[in-house]
Amino acid sequence: MADQVRFSRRTALQAAMGGLALSVTAALPAATPTQTAGPFFPKHDQADKDLDLTRIEGHAKTARGEVIVVEGRVLDEQGQPVAEALVDVWQANMHGRYAHEADTSTAPLDPDFQGWARLRTDADGRFRVRTIKPGAYPVQANWSRPPHIHFKVARRGFHELTTQMYFAGDALNDIDRLLLAVPEADRPKLVVAFTDGVEGAKAGTFEIVLRRA
Ligand SMILES: [Fe+2]
Repeated sequence: MADQVRFSRRTALQAAMGGLALSVTAALPAATPTQTAGPFFPKHDQADKDLDLTRIEGHAKTARGEVIVVEGRVLDEQGQPVAEALVDVWQANMHGRYAHEADTSTAPLDPDFQGWARLRTDADGRFRVRTIKPGAYPVQANWSRPPHIHFKVARRGFHELTTQMYFAGDALNDIDRLLLAVPEADRPKLVVAFTDGVEGAKAGTFEIVLRRA
């Protein structure tokens, strides 16, 4: 609070002085931490890669699981939107299983879950997917991955970013080796809170910040 008061006083002062130094004190977004792509990036192309992962074109049924909406913006480190960025989103199904030949899990596949979306951000840097909350899955005897969604974001002029998004409040977050490998101060950038959104689906906002090349 004290910081905010100090900030606004200083900002007001600078505005009064002509606003020359305003940009010095404005909070700029820091680059999103990178995370491994893991072994399950889609290997084979698929016909339907649209923003709705809960429906595969031509299927009568929809994906099993809790429907969620993930939306956000891709920004540069000056806070400016990055339009036309290519965004790949991929994840396990509600049972924690990837439709990928490298996934040897015995958890069930969901033939109606799309699993992968490939999008472009709009002129305001925005993207949006409708999907289901992925399940946790075991990696080793004493390590299960918490529910997470993989993202890869590419745009000419920027470093390609590969990362993972996590769900706020999940107890597995606190013992996940990949999330714990991110400096503590940066972890909140990857953890998204979901609240009641539209059409009965919970919604969360994931902001992604790219570094210029
Ligand atoms: Fe994963």
